[in-house]
Amino acid sequence: MEIIHVSAECYPVAKAGGLGDVVGALPKYQNNLGHIAKVVMPMYRTRFLFENNFEVVHKGAFGLANYWFDYTIIKEANNVTGFDLYLVDIYGILDREKIYGYDDDSLRFTAFQVAVVDWLSKWNHHPDIVHVHDHQAALIPFMMQHCYAYRHLSHIKTILTIHNAEYQGWLGWDKSNYIPHWDPWKSGLLEWENTINPLASGIKCAAKVSTVSPGYLEELRHSANGLEKLFEYERGKCYGILNGIDTDVWNPGTDVYIAENFNAENFKKKKFANKKVLCDQFNLDEDKPLIVFIGRLVGEKAADLLPSAISDSIYHMEGKMNFLILGSGEHWIELQLQNLRGHFLGYYNSQIGYNEKLSHQMYAGADFLLMPSRVEPCGLNQMYAMRYGTIPIVRNTGGLKDTVKDFGGEGGYGICFDNATVWDISYSVHRAIQLYEQQERIDEIRKQIMEIDNSWERSAQIYINLYNS
Ligand code: ADP
Ligand code: GLC
Repeated sequence: MEIIHVSAECYPVAKAGGLGDVVGALPKYQNNLGHIAKVVMPMYRTRFLFENNFEVVHKGAFGLANYWFDYTIIKEANNVTGFDLYLVDIYGILDREKIYGYDDDSLRFTAFQVAVVDWLSKWNHHPDIVHVHDHQAALIPFMMQHCYAYRHLSHIKTILTIHNAEYQGWLGWDKSNYIPHWDPWKSGLLEWENTINPLASGIKCAAKVSTVSPGYLEELRHSANGLEKLFEYERGKCYGILNGIDTDVWNPGTDVYIAENFNAENFKKKKFANKKVLCDQFNLDEDKPLIVFIGRLVGEKAADLLPSAISDSIYHMEGKMNFLILGSGEHWIELQLQNLRGHFLGYYNSQIGYNEKLSHQMYAGADFLLMPSRVEPCGLNQMYAMRYGTIPIVRNTGGLKDTVKDFGGEGGYGICFDNATVWDISYSVHRAIQLYEQQERIDEIRKQIMEIDNSWERSAQIYINLYNS
């Protein structure tokens, strides 16, 4: 089966979060199952572009919003990603340093999607499945069925995977000319609550829709940033498929970023050696439990609660633990987390920014990983942490609920809480400290979580079954 994944992110080319990780891993595992999975994404100005070789495979052009866009499709020449990787270059529009965050993002990503569909329309054969990810690619099913120039693609089945329904890519109707000449009788397939809603359009037009965990799909029926009724209505074609992790990239046994490699048999001293290096670097005490947070500093991740939860825990538990934060996001949260350093020298530290290498070192060196997320469609951090023997402290929501079981219950191995509040976080930190004091129990749990199989193998096959259906 030939599958084309279309996404705004793909690791190691360009990644802002878990979407990049998933699109960088799933196709590899689908290829291992004997299929041909390819990825097409925008060509940003990233290091990957300059460090690798590419060949031009197609040049084309299309008109959109009174502009004429020339585009070029380039293919990475040496298969360094483990799948065929195609980048769409649209001069002046996509070739920027950041992935998102520009005023013209809606034009950028609609132009990207038109280029992809235009290119597909020129192929001599057709792929079996076009698998689109999130709102930046979610207009493609509509375009393939209802744009006059591309309707000959309408027999190709499309799948939309929703990584996060908070972001829907809304466009005003004044931007309806961003989508090339389309059938006006079909405007209902673009619309949700009086705007063009790309994510809603994808849900309506794709043959199948998946979310990145079963728990999240369930939640979307009650809370989906305005799309609840649509999820309820379309529930017959929606599936919750849990993400996996790329066990080649996230492997404490071979990870080149960490100080000492380890596995479930020999982790005791070696994991501690990683902790020591990390604590030395950030002026923390390696003999205290180290609790880390890695992620986007936004409300969805409940990052706004971190400053109070950290202060509260350090005061009330007399500094029996250390905290280390790595993240970037909303400016006021970044500032608060930076300011806190002065108050809690030796107990707390943070690095504001994006740092892939440090994230590996933190998964390896930490004792606990905190994820108090208000919304977590799947969450990969908790799975990475577990692979590195780091115990997750998570709120019971979405994919976190599907992947972490509280150590208080039979067979459990994590710390779970119900509410995104300072109190619940502090109480969970208190439980973590108590657990840390039971050396034997904590080592048992570490071994147990390092051996959990969260790899993509299972879910990659589930996607294939979905395509076949
Ligand atoms: P989301 O996609 O919602 O941000 P996920 O848990 O699915 O959350 O994935 C987050 C990914 O991004 C993980 O690979 C995590 O390690 C990485 N990440 C997030 N913030 C940073 C950061 N500041 N530096 C390095 N890696 C980060
Ligand atoms: C999104 C979600 C996250 C999920 C990731 C990969 O960014 O916020 O929970 O793990 O996509 O699917």
